This record gives sequence, structure tokens and C-alpha cells, in this order.
Amino acid sequence: MRNRSIRRLLMAAFSGRANHSVQIQWVLRDPGSWLCRQFQSTSIETHSAPCEHKIEELARKTNQRGSHALWTGYGTHNVGGPTRRPDDVRTTSAMGRIYANLVMMRKPDVVVEFGTAFGVSGMYFLAGIEANQQGQLLTFEPNLEWAEIARANLVQIGKRFQLTVGTFEENIERFFSSGRQINLAFIDAIHTPEFVLPQLELVLANSARGSIILLDDINFSPEMSQCWSEISRQPRFSASAKLGDRVGILERGV
Ligand SMILES: C[S@@+](CC[C@H](N)C(=O)[O-])C[C@H]1O[C@@H](n2cnc3c(N)ncnc32)[C@H](O)[C@@H]1O
Repeated sequence: MRNRSIRRLLMAAFSGRANHSVQIQWVLRDPGSWLCRQFQSTSIETHSAPCEHKIEELARKTNQRGSHALWTGYGTHNVGGPTRRPDDVRTTSAMGRIYANLVMMRKPDVVVEFGTAFGVSGMYFLAGIEANQQGQLLTFEPNLEWAEIARANLVQIGKRFQLTVGTFEENIERFFSSGRQINLAFIDAIHTPEFVLPQLELVLANSARGSIILLDDINFSPEMSQCWSEISRQPRFSASAKLGDRVGILERGV
């Protein structure tokens, strides 16, 4: 008991103070998978991310700039009006912490993210990559105005990123035609099965065994919840779970 308390204290001192916990609802749980070995309980204590204060300050200032026009590619899939404030679309700090810490634990060479939006989730991934002193974030955003705001945020955190102004689908090939592979992906674009399913297949076609895939807004609609329910049971994944109430996580098994 005493040993466990000491270990917890050491971990908190090493990774920052734990002050939130996020529930994990497991679906697939192969005990040999990396995710199951790392997260043995049904919740994750979140520890502060490197540069977290700076990231949140940049996010705050970005939000103060007000509303910006949504990418025209949403077309009829847009359900929230023609503009968004940065805070309307960003990843929360609790999830950002998990993303940065996942990167620090897994040490991926290639992290892919789409879309970038104003760069908040990207800053958390990049903070983890910079802490590792290895790896690169490839992030994709077709909205030119949003992408330039994101770029100005990301450069404040580090250099190990490449932001492409354009969609993931239209640009992925030039990054991975040489056999390079994705180790961690974050799918956070248009949250409908019609977009998410082909995007997931593209990620898998370019990813390594054991890669980790995060999907945001899995409960965006009844169709999206059903889609997650089916994906998360597929035997090609060795582990799958819901983190908190909106993020899905998968580990590629084969
Ligand atoms: C919910 S926001 C992303 C939020 C961001 N990941 C964060 O947490 O800070 C969705 C973004 O995806 C972009 N997007 C939509 N379809 C895309 C695609 N096919 N490839 C890349 N980005 C896309 C949108 O323009 C929008 O900026």
C-alpha cells in the first residue's frame, strides 16, 4: 500500500499534478495490447501537459478574436450556422492533457491530425512531441484563415510539425507513398459516418501495427454513435474504448 502511494507521488511529481480523471469505457480489451497494459483501470488521471499554461493562454487569446467563417466544404453537413468561435470547436484541456501524455508514453514518429481548426489539439500533440525531442505532427486544415491562425499558435510550441492547408484525403498520399507510416492519428473533421469511415480506412492503410487512433465526437449524432459502436467491435483492433463522453480510442492489432 505504502509503495503504491510513493509511486503515485513520484508519478505526480514527474508528470505534473493529477487533478482530473477521465472515465475509460472499454469495448475490446486484449490484455497484450499496449493500451490495456498502460491503462489498467476504468479511469485515467490526467497530468498537466508540457506548455499547458502557454497553450491555454494562446487558446484564450485566439478565442478573443471572435467568430470566423466555417470551411465551405461542410455544405449541407453544417448544422451550426456560418461561423464558429474558436472555443466552439476546440479540444478541452483535460483531453489535451491526455493527448500530450499519450504522445509522451508512446513516442510516435508520426502523429497525424485532421482537422487542425485553430490549433488547440495540435498544440497539445506538439507539446508531447517536443518533450520527447522526436517525432513530427502532420496536421491538415482546408480553411485557409483558420489554418494561418493555427500555424501562428503551433510555432509558439515547437518546430516539429507540418501544417498542410487542404484536406487530409487530398494530401495524405504525398506523405506516405515512401513507406512512412502513421503511429498515432486524431480524426476530428466532419463527424458523420460518410466522412469518418473512409478517413479511418485511409489512416489504417497508412499506419503501422500497434498504431493508436483517436476519434473525436463519436456521439455527434445517433448515426455516429452507431458507427462507433460497430467500429469499436471490429476484430482488427486489439483494444478500443470511449474516453470521457466523446472520444473513441482504438489500437490497431493486425
Ligand atoms: C472540430 S474542428 C477541429 C478541432 C481541433 N482538432 C481542436 O481540437 O482544436 C474540425 C475541423 O476540421 C476541418 N476539416 C473538415 N474536413 C476536413 C478534412 N477532410 N481534412 C482536414 N480537415 C478537415 C474543418 O475545417 C475544421 O476546422
